[in-house]
Amino acid sequence: MSKPKVFITRRWTESVEAKLRDLYDVTLNETDRPLSAEEFKSALQNYDAVCPTVCDSFPADVLNAPNKRCKILANFGVGYNHIDIDAAKANNLIVTNTPNVLTQSTADIAMTLLLMTARRGAEGDRLVRAKKWQGWCPTSMLSSNVTGATLGLIGFGRIGQAMARKAHHGFDMNIIYFSPREADEYVTQDLKARRCDMLEELLSQSDFVSLHCPAGASTKHLINAKTLKFMKPTAHLINTARGDVVNSQALIDALKTKQIAGAGLDVYENEPNLHEGFLELENVQLLPHLGSATLETRTAMGEKVLANLAAYFTDLPLPDRVV
Ligand code: DGY
Repeated sequence: MSKPKVFITRRWTESVEAKLRDLYDVTLNETDRPLSAEEFKSALQNYDAVCPTVCDSFPADVLNAPNKRCKILANFGVGYNHIDIDAAKANNLIVTNTPNVLTQSTADIAMTLLLMTARRGAEGDRLVRAKKWQGWCPTSMLSSNVTGATLGLIGFGRIGQAMARKAHHGFDMNIIYFSPREADEYVTQDLKARRCDMLEELLSQSDFVSLHCPAGASTKHLINAKTLKFMKPTAHLINTARGDVVNSQALIDALKTKQIAGAGLDVYENEPNLHEGFLELENVQLLPHLGSATLETRTAMGEKVLANLAAYFTDLPLPDRVV
């Protein structure tokens, strides 16, 4: 029997690509270049499974391509806001994702950004590299304490809770959160976490606000000129969720006018073409969407896709079905 035809949109880690070659009639993107909408349409028409990732856009126009052979989009990534889920449903396409395995590495990057923005890490690095450092002095580059400060989490799912554990148990931070659901009792007890009923309440009480909510219509530009006004002038914003949750221009204005003290960003609107305004600011730490970028995590994400594909091709229940 011939092997199923599988299309992978970007390079994956070596060990996972080796397994794909073994198991499937696979087409890999050897040059790792971003593919076009036309190439995605053609993949949907010519392969049994297509495996996109978070930087590939699958809007309705792509998913409505005629004469599709593909019945499953086995996404490499937990977020799937790059796939039009309604159009996938309308086209009877299954979508799977890769939850759980990137929780810790993404929470680690959120904590990295929190520490960087609190302690002006990137700014200090730039100062030293530019040979502008004049030596230690009692008032240079003063920053803010992390230990004992209040961390407000917007979204309190797996990654938000992992971040809260690192912050509470590692840095003695007070934890508050804003989420549609009350967290399990053992979680709130362990973290001494308190749920805020209103977003404004969380914003006004936090020294650090970290975003962990999914992207979607209800969270688009949740952080905007109006909501930023509730944050303390000493507070910092951290975003490792999705760029669309923050209105870039509003954040740039708030940082420029020192309405808030700083920000640490790993994700942006219109990645990788982030708003140029960020590049001129000292009080923002910018990372290139590194949340899950450890070898171990990216390999585990690939393994998750393999498990979803294996289940699909053997008619077993899909471990991580989204639709
Ligand atoms: C995801 O999987 O959604 C992450 O953003 C990748 O780092």
